[in-house]
Amino acid sequence: MLKAETAGKAPRTSLHGHWSSRMAFILAVTGSAVGLGDFWKFPYITGENGGGAFVIVYLFCVFLIGMPVMMSEILIGRRGRRNPVATMALLGEEEGSSRHWSLIGGVGVIAGMLILSYYSVIAGWTIAYTLKSVSGSFVGRSAEDIEGIFSAFTGNWLSVGIAHTIFMALTIFVVARGVERGLEQAVRFMVPALFVLMLFLLGYSINSGHFAEGAAFMLTPKFDALTWDGVLVAMGQAFFTLSIGMGAVMAYGAYLPAESSITSAAAAVVVADTTLSMLAGLVIFPLVFANGLNPGHGPGLVFVTLPLAFGQMSGGVVFATIFFVLLIFAAWTSSIGLMEPAVAWAVEHFHKTRAQAATMIGILIWAVGFGTVFSFNVLADVKFLKGTFFENVDHLTSNIMLPLGGVFVTVFAAWVMCRNSSADELGGTGPIYNLWRFLARYVAPVAIVFVFVKAIGLLPDLS
Ligand code: PHE
Repeated sequence: MLKAETAGKAPRTSLHGHWSSRMAFILAVTGSAVGLGDFWKFPYITGENGGGAFVIVYLFCVFLIGMPVMMSEILIGRRGRRNPVATMALLGEEEGSSRHWSLIGGVGVIAGMLILSYYSVIAGWTIAYTLKSVSGSFVGRSAEDIEGIFSAFTGNWLSVGIAHTIFMALTIFVVARGVERGLEQAVRFMVPALFVLMLFLLGYSINSGHFAEGAAFMLTPKFDALTWDGVLVAMGQAFFTLSIGMGAVMAYGAYLPAESSITSAAAAVVVADTTLSMLAGLVIFPLVFANGLNPGHGPGLVFVTLPLAFGQMSGGVVFATIFFVLLIFAAWTSSIGLMEPAVAWAVEHFHKTRAQAATMIGILIWAVGFGTVFSFNVLADVKFLKGTFFENVDHLTSNIMLPLGGVFVTVFAAWVMCRNSSADELGGTGPIYNLWRFLARYVAPVAIVFVFVKAIGLLPDLS
């Protein structure tokens, strides 16, 4: 998918090649955005934070903060055409500021590695659940049985560790070969397939008898159920699910041909990802209520609700298998995005081959991942700050590092870069440009800092 730049049209070319088309870029970014964030994380954190009000805040964050941050990241990436660390240093200097903007790229590289360390563990669960689906483990089982299967599996650190190891190996394999081969085909097939399967499951959910209750839980705003901490989680989820704030989109933007529209690419990704998340919620909550489960079940939510539903439908073995296989692919195309900034940086900085860089970085991430493997069994009772090791890494990355990255990225693109540079990348200074600039200059950074300050409790509640 990436081909070496031949024509001298682009002002600067990327060391790693360019996407073959705008569509290839959109597919890659969509592949990175659509993942466990939509199907696993969105439903369980919505359940934990009381539903409707949380979803509304999340949607506001996606469109008013996520969209301008994503456009800023892509435009910076394409202008610099290097890994996020080098791009920020280069543009910082070029725009008359400082090379130290590279720090923002560096924090993003670390955030991506930390996220991948637990992402890979949960992706490992989907591998194990694919095997359980094929062998018919869920057929005709009760809610208690299915809960028992989940706790027995996650309680066994060795099985979880093996599944995590397999998933990390898959990720290292693809990143080592270069992002271009295979990714495009995977996404081209996976995203529409997930969409169709979700619509099918939605039909099942509508017939579960509790659709109205589930939809009302998700869509009726009950703001007294939402704390400022919940608002921070909603904002963090907007960053996590769109893959922004850590340089993944910036790294992908570096390979985007000069003439492609950044705005429409970003809009396509945001709409696709948000639709899938909302569908996932509308599938899962009716099933939660139909089976008397607790919406605040936590990280196991989708691993309990869907197997239960599959176990009761005819042809459920086939559908369960298809669903979990698709989820493996969705997680795989995301994990590549999580690792790409670190690998692109190591290749450029240490002059390593992609294979060497991916292996070294992958092993490091794999080792850190055992903190999360143990968070569900041997170290489940070791809690500090926000809870288990897993909960702390998740909170630190999604709710702090990504939004903070977002502040700096928008401030850089909309305040530090001169108007000519950003307008050049965004295709001139029309109304859309002005809207982006307004959101990126004022709305996004102010909103992010405001939510931080509220969640930490520095600002009193006036009510
Ligand atoms: N967006 C991915 C998901 O929803 C996770 C991710 C975050 C991927 C950041 C790349 C970068 O699963």
